[in-house]
Amino acid sequence: MRKKTTLAMDGGTKAVAALGPYTSKIHKEELEELLDLWEYAPGIKDKLTALIEKHAAQLKGPHLFRYYNPRPSKVEQAEQAFAKYIGVKHALAVNSCTSALIAALRALGIGMGDEVIVPAYTFFASAAVIGACNAIPVIADVDDTLTLDPRDVERRITPRTRAIIVVHMRGMPAQMDKLMAIARKHKLHVVEDVAQAAGGTYKGRMLGSIGTMGCFSFDYYKILNSGEGGFVTTNDSWLHTRAQPWHDCAACWRPNRFASERREGELFCGENYRMSELQGAVALAQIRKAPALLKGYRAAKRRIVSKLKLPEGVTLQRVADPAGDTGICLILFMPDVTRAKWALPALQAEGVPAGGIYDHKVKDWHIYVHWEHILEHKSVARDGLPWSGVPAAELPNYSKTMCPQSTELLSRAIMIDIHCEHSAADCGAIATGINKVLAAM
Ligand SMILES: Cc1ncc(COP(=O)(O)O)c(C=O)c1O
Repeated sequence: MRKKTTLAMDGGTKAVAALGPYTSKIHKEELEELLDLWEYAPGIKDKLTALIEKHAAQLKGPHLFRYYNPRPSKVEQAEQAFAKYIGVKHALAVNSCTSALIAALRALGIGMGDEVIVPAYTFFASAAVIGACNAIPVIADVDDTLTLDPRDVERRITPRTRAIIVVHMRGMPAQMDKLMAIARKHKLHVVEDVAQAAGGTYKGRMLGSIGTMGCFSFDYYKILNSGEGGFVTTNDSWLHTRAQPWHDCAACWRPNRFASERREGELFCGENYRMSELQGAVALAQIRKAPALLKGYRAAKRRIVSKLKLPEGVTLQRVADPAGDTGICLILFMPDVTRAKWALPALQAEGVPAGGIYDHKVKDWHIYVHWEHILEHKSVARDGLPWSGVPAAELPNYSKTMCPQSTELLSRAIMIDIHCEHSAADCGAIATGINKVLAAM
C-alpha cells in the first residue's frame, strides 16, 4: 500500500521549498559585448574586461524591459527628459520615427479613406506611414525653404483631408505660422516630423511642440541617436493615452493592464514599438547632451556662412526662422542645373562634404519622383489598400511631374553637411573650398 502524504495545501511539507538563486541570464558576457561595441583601444578593453570578470559575482545583471523594472526605467527617464527638453506634457519613447508617425496617426484616428498631406521632399517614411495606416498620401510641393509650400498645401485640401505631416527637413524649421493657420481654418491635425531637426525651434518654440503631435527619430544618422529609436510628443493627454496602446500591443502601459478601458477609444489592436532599456539608456544620455551638440552645429554653420562669397545667381536656402535652424547642413541653390552638375564634383574634389539633392537618374528615397510604391498604387495584400479605400476617380492624380516646383528647386540644390565638432579651421577650409569653386564657375 502506498504511504499517504499530506499535501502542502493541507499542511504538509512543500515539495519545492525554494528555487534558485539564479544568476541573471543577461550577465557579464553581454556587458563585454557592449564594451566591444564602444570600441575602446585593445589595451583598455582588456583592462575593463578583466575588471568585469573579477567582479562578476557582484554583477546583478540588467532588467532590459521598460515595464515592471524594479529600478527606475531608463526609457521612462528618457521620456521625462525629452518632454522637458521639447517643452511638452508628454513624450512616448518608441523604436523609430516611422513607428512614432504611425502611432501618432493612429492616435488621431486616421485610417481608410482619409487623406494626409505630405511634402514632395522628405524621407519616404513620412509618406509610407500614411499608406501603412490605410490612408491616402497627398503629395504637396515644397518652396525655396525646401519645406511644405503653404499655398500648395491649401490647394490640395479635399473633404477627405484629415492631417498635414509637416517635415522640418534638413534641420530647418517649416513655415509653422502659415501651416498652422491653414490647419486651423480647415480643422486639420498637424503632425510635425522632426526626425531631422531635434532641438530646432520656430519663433522661440521647440519643433515638435507646435503641432498636434511631434515625431522624432533617434536612428544612427540623426542629431540625437540611440542606434534606433524615436519619440512621440504632445500636449494632448488623450492622444498620448491613445498612442500608448498602439505602441504596446501587449498592453503593459496601464496601471492595471487587465482593467477595462477607462474611456472609450483607449483599447484597440496595436503593434509593438516599445523601446528597450538599452536604447533608453543611450537616448537618455543623448538628450542630456542635446544643448551642447546643437551649440556645436549652429556655431559651425554660422562660421561657414559668415565666410561665404556668393556670386550673383547663387543663393542660400531660405530658412523660415534662421534662429531656429539646427545647423546640420547648408544648402546652396545654383543658378541652373548645368552649373549645379558642374559644381558638385568640383566641390567634392576640394574635399567639401557636398552632395547633390535631385537627379532624376539617381534613385533617392527623399524625393517623391522615386516613390513608385505610391505613384503606382502598390499594395501589400489582395485588399488593394490603401488605394481601394476611396473611389478610384477620387484618388490624387499621382505622376512624376505633379510637384514641378520641388523638382526644379531640388535639381539645382547642393547640400553641404556640417559636423557639430567642426573646428574654426575646418569651417574656414570648407568656406574656402566653396568660394574657390563658385569663383571659378
Ligand atoms: C524626415 C524623416 N522622417 C522619418 C524618418 C524615419 O526615421 P526612422 O529611421 O527613425 O524610422 C526619417 C529617417 O531618415 C526622416 O529623415
